[in-house]
Amino acid sequence: MSIATSIPHVIDRATCTALDAADPLAGHRDLFDLPEGVVYLDGNSLGALPRATAAHVQRVIAEEWGTGLIRSWNDAGWFEKPTALGDRIAPLIGAAAGEVVLGDSTSASLFQVAVAAARLRPERRVVVSERGNFPTDLYVLESVQELLGDPGRPLERRLIADDGPTLADVLGDDVAVVVLTHVNYRTGRMYDLAEVTRQVHEAGAIMVWDLCHSVGAVPVDLNGAGADFAIGCTYKYLNGGPGSPSFIWAAARHQAAARPGVTAWHGHARPFDFDVAYAPADGVTRFRVGTPQLLSVAALEASLDIWSGVDLEQLREKSLRLTELFISLVDSRLAAWGVEVVTPRQSARRGSQVSLRTGEADGYAVMQALIERGVIGDFRAPDLMRFGFTPLYVSHADVWDAVDVLVEILETEVWRDPRFGRRGAVT
Ligand SMILES: Cc1ncc(COP(=O)(O)O)c(C=O)c1O
Repeated sequence: MSIATSIPHVIDRATCTALDAADPLAGHRDLFDLPEGVVYLDGNSLGALPRATAAHVQRVIAEEWGTGLIRSWNDAGWFEKPTALGDRIAPLIGAAAGEVVLGDSTSASLFQVAVAAARLRPERRVVVSERGNFPTDLYVLESVQELLGDPGRPLERRLIADDGPTLADVLGDDVAVVVLTHVNYRTGRMYDLAEVTRQVHEAGAIMVWDLCHSVGAVPVDLNGAGADFAIGCTYKYLNGGPGSPSFIWAAARHQAAARPGVTAWHGHARPFDFDVAYAPADGVTRFRVGTPQLLSVAALEASLDIWSGVDLEQLREKSLRLTELFISLVDSRLAAWGVEVVTPRQSARRGSQVSLRTGEADGYAVMQALIERGVIGDFRAPDLMRFGFTPLYVSHADVWDAVDVLVEILETEVWRDPRFGRRGAVT
């Protein structure tokens, strides 16, 4: 007996295609080169390839590198790319021109800003983060604690968690910096950025936001919230490509006093004086490190062209429609197998992903079976299947199709095939 067909549900595929027909962002899907037959729900891990990227990168390689050679540092504006592209990311995060610069990896950029942030509160000896934060953030902070602590006595770390302690529990006049990720990588839970920032400032601490799962997924207003520093990646919802550079935001009011973790030549006031002493550049430029990865920067540049025409409120509306549709289909069609929605149902607390716990079924194996059938999400140990809904290229029909395939996998129990249990190095 088919369990799925015995469960009543009010939404059908035609409802979804009607939503697509009325979707003002539907045309953006054509700007991406998605393989035929694939439902791509992993843009929260690696964004899809924009159609314009290959030609743009090819042109940069052939003309700027091949023909322009070293002259391109000036003629093609290579040296200014990190700040020029930073200015294009700024409107996506509520930042002003001159406040954002490209970095290296998100991890390296967090080191840059966490050191700068802690140095703004030298008399305070505590760093706060979250147990469920993306682990690299915690690893980076360990080093910051050691480096800025006293010999043998690192800065103290306090971690908040869903089951306590809360932020209010750990904040005090000894806290220098709070580092939190706006949208949680595992659960998709979103903080109230303005409210948390207010709470942190009330305690006199500096607020650093990790926006990896927010930028290009939800509207962010850093200046509106009066936050201090932020970092994020560009390879997820911004579709900059594998390994595309991170970005750093430093509120204008902190820039003159900020002393980043790595003081290097591209952040120097006069790099081509080749002086023996470091002198920080003005503004957010001082957070730069060394030679930017210009081919990755070129790929990001092509993807940013797409964003100039995107209304972020419309993007958020569609994102919520997609995640709500997914949640209601999971509720109506998958409850029989004990599949549970982990992501908050309250829309204000949800980013653009939904995570599921699969009940009795092995979530890793279920995800591999999904991927084999062209529905691509991912798995985070120990038991979460993650589905990212990138509003620029995911359709409502995709959501229907993904759940349909999930029903089939659970119904047939094909996931029990041993080949779906074999783990690759990357999940
Ligand atoms: C919230 C968060 N921070 C940091 C990172 C790691 O970034 P990177 O590999 O660019 O250093 C990730 C990666 O997915 C992430 O989700």
